[in-house]
Amino acid sequence: MAGKERMLITGGNPLEGEVQVSGGKNTAVAVIPASLLCDEPCTIENLPDIEDVHALVDILKELGAKVEYEPGHLLRVDPRTAQGDTVSYRNAQRLRASYYLLGTLLGRCGRANVPTPGGCDIGSRPVDQHLKGMRAIGADAEERRGILRASSENLTGGDVFFDMVTVGATVNVMLAAVKAKGTTTIYNAAKEPHIVDLANFLNSMGARVKGAGTDIIRIRGVQSLHGTTYAVIPDQIETGTLMIAAAATCGDVTIHGCIPTHMDALTAKLLEMGVRVNDYDDAIRVRGAGPKRAINIKTQVYPGFPTDLQQPMSALLTTVKGTSIVQETIFEQRFRHLDEIRRMGAQIRVMERTAIIEGVTELYGAPLTATDLRAGAALIIAGLMARGVTEIYEPGYIDRGYEHIEDKLRSLGAEISRDLAE
Ligand code: UD1
Repeated sequence: MAGKERMLITGGNPLEGEVQVSGGKNTAVAVIPASLLCDEPCTIENLPDIEDVHALVDILKELGAKVEYEPGHLLRVDPRTAQGDTVSYRNAQRLRASYYLLGTLLGRCGRANVPTPGGCDIGSRPVDQHLKGMRAIGADAEERRGILRASSENLTGGDVFFDMVTVGATVNVMLAAVKAKGTTTIYNAAKEPHIVDLANFLNSMGARVKGAGTDIIRIRGVQSLHGTTYAVIPDQIETGTLMIAAAATCGDVTIHGCIPTHMDALTAKLLEMGVRVNDYDDAIRVRGAGPKRAINIKTQVYPGFPTDLQQPMSALLTTVKGTSIVQETIFEQRFRHLDEIRRMGAQIRVMERTAIIEGVTELYGAPLTATDLRAGAALIIAGLMARGVTEIYEPGYIDRGYEHIEDKLRSLGAEISRDLAE
């Protein structure tokens, strides 16, 4: 029987040197489906070489698009041959963002059937706002027996009021509305950088999307979209994870190719802890040597502190002297990584959506299991800080969203590898 895949980290090395950040996962998973809305071939550059991208490439092929894919470089999509309106269960389960095909296929051909998606299990992740948004712009939309269905003979556009700020539903309605007959206005829209990037991609094909990056987005439907070549923005969460890794290991790392303003919420917290952070035009240098102060964190929608960095950051806080309080306001179950890090000697109490972390002087290597993508990143941070060897099982979660993470960390001096456990 084949062994279980695991990542092995021998902790204690300060990370030092320069590293390049990859293209954004969350923007890639919106832009790739959006390419199906185009009426001509288009090219997407700077895509990260990660499992979520591979899954979407397979979905485009399954729908009949002609696809040329050079992993880590570019994706050429000729959507003219795509006939399908249905995503297979097998592919939908491979990633959360498969549900972006709901808006895309509705916008493209007036019909969409997408099995409820897979992705990270971080608590209940309802889709009521997605369906409500589709209905508000003139579609029938429902979830029935595990399938998200949307259809419309006449997508009119309309006013969409979201009950909460949701990235996924904002993206899905944008995708559905771009080729609607009339105008759509999304109120209480998400403002994340990848919403702006998706709008820029759509506009580069001739769409008329205004206001992305604010909480009101207006989309005037157009009849057709022309080909484009577009490079996605750098990954904000990978940048943040590398910044935290530098701080956690008392290292000195310069991250190139990032957008420092996207990192302001994290930078502010690192500075508050006593970590030195310098911003340049498209680079950030983080120096983590010296004593650190305990801090409090509350996750919020952009531009607040991102929930996706809560997990790596709370791993770092387990070794910072004093009491840190971390509040998770976005997802229900985003503290499972802390159960694992406790095995390494961390002192943490979790009460509902609040974690109280008493910093310890040292963590000790232990066998751990990644339970979702960012939990996996948090375990890597813990392993890099710990004395001895940390084994991380289920590293496949990490591959969903981090491009060649071991290579990048090794180039900075980490001792990290992968094998099959006996
Ligand atoms: C996106 C990001 C993810 C990030 C999250 C929050 C992508 C591909 N993923 O996830 O990395 O952690 O934003 O920044 O961009 N909600 C509902 N009903 C809905 C939709 C959402 O109640 O129909 C709730 C969710 O349960 C959650 C909150 O709204 O509590 C925010 O979720 P949302 O912004 O939609 O997250 P995702 O798009 O899934």
